[in-house]
Amino acid sequence: MNAQPHGRKIPGIGDYYSATQLRADRWSALREAVEALSRHGVEGRQGQKILASVQELFEALAPIELYWAFPGANAFEHLRRLFDNRNFEDLTILIRRVARALTSGAYRRRTVPLMAEEADADDYEDESAIAPEARALGRPYFEVMIVDHVSEQQERFLKSSLQRMRRAEDSFIYEAVIVPSLEDALIGILFNHNVQAVVVRPGLTLKSRNTLQILSKYLRRVGDDEDVDALEPSEYGPEACRLIAKVRPELDAYLVTDRSAEEIAGLDLGRCRRVFYNQEDFLELHLNILRGVARRFKTPFFNALKEYSKQPTGVFHALPISRGKSITRSHWIQDMGAFYGANIFLAETSATSGGLDSLLEPRGPIKEAQELAARAFGAKQTFFATNGTSTCNKIVVQALVRPGDIVLIDRDCHKSHHYGMVLAGASVVYMESYPLHPYSMYGAVPLSEIKGKLLALRAAGKLDKVRMVLLTNCTFDGIVYDVERVISECLAIKKDLIFLWDEAWFAFARFGPTYRQRTAMNAANNLRESLRRPETAKAYEKQAKALEGAPDDVWIKTRLVPPSDARVRVYATHSTHKTLTALRQGSMIHVNDQDFKGEVEQSFHEAYMTHTSTSPNYQIIASLDVGRRQVELEGFEFVQRQIESAMSIRRAVATHPLLKKYFRVLTAGDMIPADYRESGMTSYYDPEQGWHDIWHSWAQDEFVLDPTRITLAVGGTGWDGDTFKTRILMDKYGIQINKTSRNTVLFMTNIGTTRSSVAYLIEVLVEIAKDLDELLDDASRMERLAFERRVTSLVEHVPPLPDFSRFHDAFRSAEGTPAGDIRSAFFLAYDEDNCDYEELSKELVERAEAGEELVSASFVIPYPPGFPILMPGQVISAEILAFMRALDVSEIHGYRHDLGLRVFNKAALERAAKS
Ligand SMILES: Cc1ncc(COP(=O)(O)O)c(C=O)c1O
Repeated sequence: MNAQPHGRKIPGIGDYYSATQLRADRWSALREAVEALSRHGVEGRQGQKILASVQELFEALAPIELYWAFPGANAFEHLRRLFDNRNFEDLTILIRRVARALTSGAYRRRTVPLMAEEADADDYEDESAIAPEARALGRPYFEVMIVDHVSEQQERFLKSSLQRMRRAEDSFIYEAVIVPSLEDALIGILFNHNVQAVVVRPGLTLKSRNTLQILSKYLRRVGDDEDVDALEPSEYGPEACRLIAKVRPELDAYLVTDRSAEEIAGLDLGRCRRVFYNQEDFLELHLNILRGVARRFKTPFFNALKEYSKQPTGVFHALPISRGKSITRSHWIQDMGAFYGANIFLAETSATSGGLDSLLEPRGPIKEAQELAARAFGAKQTFFATNGTSTCNKIVVQALVRPGDIVLIDRDCHKSHHYGMVLAGASVVYMESYPLHPYSMYGAVPLSEIKGKLLALRAAGKLDKVRMVLLTNCTFDGIVYDVERVISECLAIKKDLIFLWDEAWFAFARFGPTYRQRTAMNAANNLRESLRRPETAKAYEKQAKALEGAPDDVWIKTRLVPPSDARVRVYATHSTHKTLTALRQGSMIHVNDQDFKGEVEQSFHEAYMTHTSTSPNYQIIASLDVGRRQVELEGFEFVQRQIESAMSIRRAVATHPLLKKYFRVLTAGDMIPADYRESGMTSYYDPEQGWHDIWHSWAQDEFVLDPTRITLAVGGTGWDGDTFKTRILMDKYGIQINKTSRNTVLFMTNIGTTRSSVAYLIEVLVEIAKDLDELLDDASRMERLAFERRVTSLVEHVPPLPDFSRFHDAFRSAEGTPAGDIRSAFFLAYDEDNCDYEELSKELVERAEAGEELVSASFVIPYPPGFPILMPGQVISAEILAFMRALDVSEIHGYRHDLGLRVFNKAALERAAKS
């Protein structure tokens, strides 16, 4: 850390996870330093120290500013000259202006005067004077990155040529920023979230001269597996386009080239939207840039709804709230109208015509909005849902699984899947996640377990019945799979398997380059490509020969290659509302299935009809449309900010002396056993070394941890997770969380998490720690002992998590396999005569230990941990009973505290066995 003259410390680069935050903090540090300079002058030791610190900050900012259009290289140079000329008065005014404009975003709305002669132009509009409505209706701003190695004069020419193309009717306003090389372009798009379009010109060079550590970190992210050094200069441009698409696929790239059209036609240009052969056609370029952004800005259903709400209509359908009629005429519910405002009611309608559309049979703006969402999320088809991912999961399962089909599913997945299995009549094979006994939670299902189950089914001759593998990515606690690896290795065992990835918590992942690698849609697209490559076919043939007759454990240990005729059949469900902008229950189903059109479309339609309301909420659909616009234009920025917020919480808990005493943020090392962390990465932040680069582990480890989900171990406070959540966080400080385990609580950051909410959380934790310190200071010896006993009990005496036992023989659905017919068990329990209740007593444990087969008649789900520990038809093991008895939670769904466990009686089991 460097000491600042005015007392504060400037954090070092290692303290920052992202360069964006570093940049913001450096500008405010510069503002403070020049203000101090104005006050003190340069005299004396203090003055000299401040002078040196301003110099240092200018130097630290110089390489960073290259990538941003505001304040821009010229203005930045001008500020440096003012400093060199000791014109501190003007310097202070202008730097204040820059810092303010960066914080408020004023530079997006107007020109901020930054030349010396403009220093007294403080009459330029005050941001606070602009009404929020005016701001909302202003023209959105973005930046265009031009990649070309040009002189200063040419740079001015390029910028002014584009500026001259501006027209009053343009929907957006943009500024250009020019970088010289391919590497700079990659750093630039990863670092400058304002960039929406990249223009690659023929003069670009390869290497960046920028050696700033935090920026080279950005370059490493893309450079790891890309050898750009071997390129010919004529290949730089096309290669830049290809890499841009890999890093930020939502961006528009334009290639300006002097190579022939025939040469260019055969190259992979990523998502390059246009190739220009005439370097100086600025009007064409300008119009294309605007059109490209307009494609993403477009929200067909939201616009249709807005238009509809303006039309005068007579309401003769069944929705009295439509246009607010039942409210405005009311004597008693006017406050509802006042609270929500008029628009929401003007937009409430059940009409499917008049510019609107039907969710059940979309042909107009809903269809278009869904197509845009498919593009944004990398899917082939996308379907909106207005009743959450709980419904999406049931739709997908019903569309694909026929009664008796075998489904491999993680046991601790969301309950909608278990109910989905019941509805579909699936033969269920539960897979075990690795347990995290010390924290009373599960991790995720290891690939060896998935392959092991598939191979066992193959050995039993039942592989043809296996239809689907269903997994949760990421898990509630943030464990993330290597999706592509799981799919390809499973396809190597059965080439037409279907995958449903429950990404309820992972919709945002598409918009972070590190995260994107581990999303279902990205994996499906990569696999489609790799299956087409001749090398894959060769590798498969070679491996198939080597594995001929090999025992299962060799198959499990080998990294399997799928055959080139394997089918890519991948589905993902997103609770858009959980991680992106969408109203509650706004969810999406994304499809990337090569056989969707040929085989699934009709059954999907039926399943969609089964579960979708005939009165879907239009506000939810509109919010999905707008949420999609947001991620395509600023998802990258928001996800980066979210990660930065989460990382700062991780850092604070790891370094604050008082917080360290009672709390601990669980790291990847705590939550993922070493066998599944090939990179050896144990934590993202190290108090000595600062941040680790997580790209590396995300590229290779079997499991990684989503750093934005923060599991805080609270056993050291003497409170269990649930008490800490309700009595401390909620009741005392108004902080809401929704997951706890016996000794942990989970904090989820999201794209709306602000720096101040992070600061508040840290403050609260510090206050809790201080209170505990004081309490223990004044405690008697006995009180102290009691506290220590509580801590030991929470941290060390955690009941081991029970495995899934097995389905009772009466419900086995595929001979020689563990598959169970959960549906028969579920409906058998509808008849009270088939069931008894058993008290959760010590005697019951002993009976189970003695070999008595007790069989659950219902789902039993304790909160926490929140996953079913018993399914209908499952044998209740002594282990499960012991776990239930040790659980000190009051909320257990499916268990009657007054009656006990609901089990099948003998007669019912005998009847079931015969049927
Ligand atoms: C993994 C998982 N899948 C699905 C759901 C259900 O999503 P929704 O609340 O959108 O119905 C949840 C809800 O918490 C979940 O955690």
